[in-house]
Amino acid sequence: MVLHVTQSVEALEQYCATLRAAGLDAPWSRPGPLIEPKKTRVEPRLWRWAEIEPLLRRSAEFVTPERGAERRILRLANPGVPERTSTHTLSVAVQYLLPGEVAPAHRHTPNAIRFMMHGRGAYTTVDGDKCLMAPGDLVLTPSMTWHDHGNEGTEPVIWLDGLDSPIVRYLEALSGEPHAMDRQSTGYLAGLSERRFGVAGLRPTWVPPGTGPARLIHYRWEPTHAALLRLAELEPSPFDDVMMEYIDPATGRSVLPTMGCYIQMIRPGVRTRAHRQTSSAVYAVLQGSGTSVIDGVRYEWQQGDFFVVPPRALHAHANDDADPAILFSLQDVPLLTALGLYREEG
Ligand SMILES: [Fe+2]
Ligand SMILES: [Fe+2]
Repeated sequence: MVLHVTQSVEALEQYCATLRAAGLDAPWSRPGPLIEPKKTRVEPRLWRWAEIEPLLRRSAEFVTPERGAERRILRLANPGVPERTSTHTLSVAVQYLLPGEVAPAHRHTPNAIRFMMHGRGAYTTVDGDKCLMAPGDLVLTPSMTWHDHGNEGTEPVIWLDGLDSPIVRYLEALSGEPHAMDRQSTGYLAGLSERRFGVAGLRPTWVPPGTGPARLIHYRWEPTHAALLRLAELEPSPFDDVMMEYIDPATGRSVLPTMGCYIQMIRPGVRTRAHRQTSSAVYAVLQGSGTSVIDGVRYEWQQGDFFVVPPRALHAHANDDADPAILFSLQDVPLLTALGLYREEG
């Protein structure tokens, strides 16, 4: 076979124009690798509670119940992410609900979590199971579960909202619908999922179909905190100090396929060793204060603050205070693990 080699620029340009018209691309016609590398756009960032709280309370002036109290959120918008989400995979917001307000029932393809931060009297009903949320409680609303929220207390409540909507949107699988009723009927015993699945190591052999959540959805603060304190008496991780992942007790897996939830204690005087992970994380400071060095930049945080660790960012935490620091975090570790892309290096 005789090969005619042409090096004429005009011939190549003409050839590429013909390719484009045919819906084809020749990556070799441009300099550089065939698969272009991409640097993360996610930036490390600290949000201070002292700045968030007054702005959140003021949002009630603009978002009245008539205009949809369920829309009254302030999202932690990462300056590097054009879609204004917290990382490229995680959308985290704080939500403010006044006494008597209701967020009408609906469902959607994104998975979501609620972590209760301030105030008592709020509930989330998930597939008919009414979960009364006390500060420190975690409630899951997995993909396509019906959920509605309300504040039956006498004070405003604030919770953290975490969604995998950036991923679902990227996958073009975003959809949702309102429920026929504003509030789901709660014909079952309250705390249904806890009664069925709330004891680790035991699960019911049979759950009648269509009768509430078929998994644990409410993780309470007291047992979580107690477990963290018990673990703190043992040998901690050099990178994370005392850290636990919330799991589905029936399967042992992360609570959601895309997002993992973690509770972590940095004990007084501890300085962790630096590590980097291919995952991204949004941290909420529940108690105490400390410092995180993320890619060489020092962030000093205290109770109520939030911060983001971008993928592959080298990070270490320190607590120079006399009291333990407790952090809740939402991380995309399960998603990366499922794709075989999770890596961690110290
Ligand atoms: Fe929702
Ligand atoms: Fe980490």
